[in-house]
Amino acid sequence: MGKRGSFSSRFGVVAAVGGSVIGLGNIWRFPYIAGENGGAAFILIYISISLLISIPIMLSEFTLGRSTKRNSKRAFQKLAPGSHWNWVGYMGIFCSFIILAFYSVIAGWALDFIKESLLNNFAGKSPAEINANFSAFVDSGWRPITWAIIFIVATAVIVLAGIEKGIERYSKILMPLFVVLLIGLVINSLTLPAAREGITFLLKPDFSKVTGNTVLQALGQSFFSMSLGMGCMITYGSYIKKNENMFKVAGMVALSDVSVAILSGLAIFPAVFSFGINPTSGPELVFLTLPNIFAQMTGGYFISIIFFTLLFLAAITSSISLFEVSTAYFSEEMRMGRRKAVLLVGGTTIITSTLCALSQMPGSQLTILGHNLFDAFDSLSSNILMPLGGLLIVIFTGWVLSPAKFKNELTSQQTCGKHLFPIVRFLIRFVIPFVILMLFFSLIGLF
Ligand code: PHE
Repeated sequence: MGKRGSFSSRFGVVAAVGGSVIGLGNIWRFPYIAGENGGAAFILIYISISLLISIPIMLSEFTLGRSTKRNSKRAFQKLAPGSHWNWVGYMGIFCSFIILAFYSVIAGWALDFIKESLLNNFAGKSPAEINANFSAFVDSGWRPITWAIIFIVATAVIVLAGIEKGIERYSKILMPLFVVLLIGLVINSLTLPAAREGITFLLKPDFSKVTGNTVLQALGQSFFSMSLGMGCMITYGSYIKKNENMFKVAGMVALSDVSVAILSGLAIFPAVFSFGINPTSGPELVFLTLPNIFAQMTGGYFISIIFFTLLFLAAITSSISLFEVSTAYFSEEMRMGRRKAVLLVGGTTIITSTLCALSQMPGSQLTILGHNLFDAFDSLSSNILMPLGGLLIVIFTGWVLSPAKFKNELTSQQTCGKHLFPIVRFLIRFVIPFVILMLFFSLIGLF
């Protein structure tokens, strides 16, 4: 086996992990869920969940990865030989494939919309025309598939270049670019006539909207947004240097996740309200509502190019991390070398993404339990596999892994975060398993 790669600097680690965490989830899902669920009240809950649940899970994953320096399946095997824990690793690898399948389709849409923006194709169109164009695009099948393939190849090229020269190097360029573009958009949005209404929708605290369900929504959103429970952070953790302070990395990444989510809302809602449109969620917000706004806005030509470029940047740094989970597995476990592993993962992803895109065509038979493949993959990963993976990971680090080993690894041989360790371990052993179990009970309708 060749020499294993690693991230070279603190900035490199934060850019790579931040690149994974900051993605489509921050831009189209968070702002809307927050607006609908009590604004600042939801954001407060989301921040508490990040602190008490997501950061400790991320730290668990980093620990598993860094202590073994192996892919997510081998990490479990090394720490608990002869047990069945390596199935958690397999489950994560499977999960990375299905997320990658639908994620690449949406990222492909972003690429098509960059092209549409460059050609100034939104200008002067009525909402009905914009709707019709989008449906024609999705229904054609071959157009989204072509873009998804281009996106997957771009991801593969970066992953092929390796950890330091590929993932880290590109994250260090793409993430700052992303932040600059986002801040530009926010400043522009704040000058719009209904900026105040947009900000109120996103931020006005309304505790009357907070129910048990709100907390569960925040939890699900945080799992997806922080890339947890499917081995991504185990894999990236295995590239973190031994003397790096993982508490700081996780804290900075969580802070970036929340900030970018809120900034996205500040970029989007003032525009939505200024043009008298109802806020929507999901792909619709980004691919239907916003083009309508760009069509009417002064400077809409440039703003739309910037916005869809932003979306593409957010997506590619996340898909790199999804791609790396299985690339690390195949190259290390099947002894096939990085190039072959990348070809295998890329080829498989092209097939699964094609199926996802086809499943969105009218009359498609590609369904699972009444949902098209695209939606089925989305909900299987965020509602079941990631929380289940997260639960098993904290049970493993909290109850199976020896406390001394856990402590030494997490505190980098007792050089940092010694006082935080007992708190984190308590959360991991008791609080987090309890909260995730509640999530499952509510999903199956027990309360
Ligand atoms: N965190 C990414 C987002 O918010 C999605 C993702 C999930 C990336 C799991 C990697 C692993 O869009």
